[in-house]
Amino acid sequence: MALIKVHDKTFETYLPEELIQQRVKELAEKINADYKGRRPYFVAILNGSFMFASDLFKHLTVDADICFIKLASYKGTQSTGNVLTTIGLDEDLFGKDVIIVEDIVDTGKTLHHFLPRLMHQQPKSLQIATLLHKPEATEYPLTLGYTGFEIPNKFVVGYGLDYDGLGRNLKEIYQLV
Ligand code: IMP
Repeated sequence: MALIKVHDKTFETYLPEELIQQRVKELAEKINADYKGRRPYFVAILNGSFMFASDLFKHLTVDADICFIKLASYKGTQSTGNVLTTIGLDEDLFGKDVIIVEDIVDTGKTLHHFLPRLMHQQPKSLQIATLLHKPEATEYPLTLGYTGFEIPNKFVVGYGLDYDGLGRNLKEIYQLV
């Protein structure tokens, strides 16, 4: 078991590269079967999902579009507090088979706030593909169509996921010791 240091914290190998690659391929094959004859429109959420989205996309055999968006929260002037804005989502999703691509669903808060925005555009269907899911951390339940791995409620880095900006380049996923 390899130990690595990211900033001040120590992480150990949790999901090796081969296992991640195999599972991503399986998810893509399931999507290929489920969307046969259709043209899914992938909406990948930056930054964390860039590696997963890229590997998943390589294994698709159905025609598919992809766009990358960023969700940013800013303090509104009203007392409502944090408001979520989307950057890069300028495509009209009306009538499309949309698949959101996430790195990890933790509390579910991010997607819980984002989904109504997408639904507003009246896509034909909407599914979520997430590489990781922490079921124990869920505060906002979501229906996850495609989940790579269910993991314990421990902080992870690697394969796109960061700890304070670092660790995204790692090919494996590491768990906080
Ligand atoms: P949620 O809104 O609580 O579901 O959190 C989703 C976002 O939090 C993810 O897209 C990640 O950017 C970040 N996140 C949650 N858990 C982790 C983790 O263990 N490692 C790195 N980022 C995480």
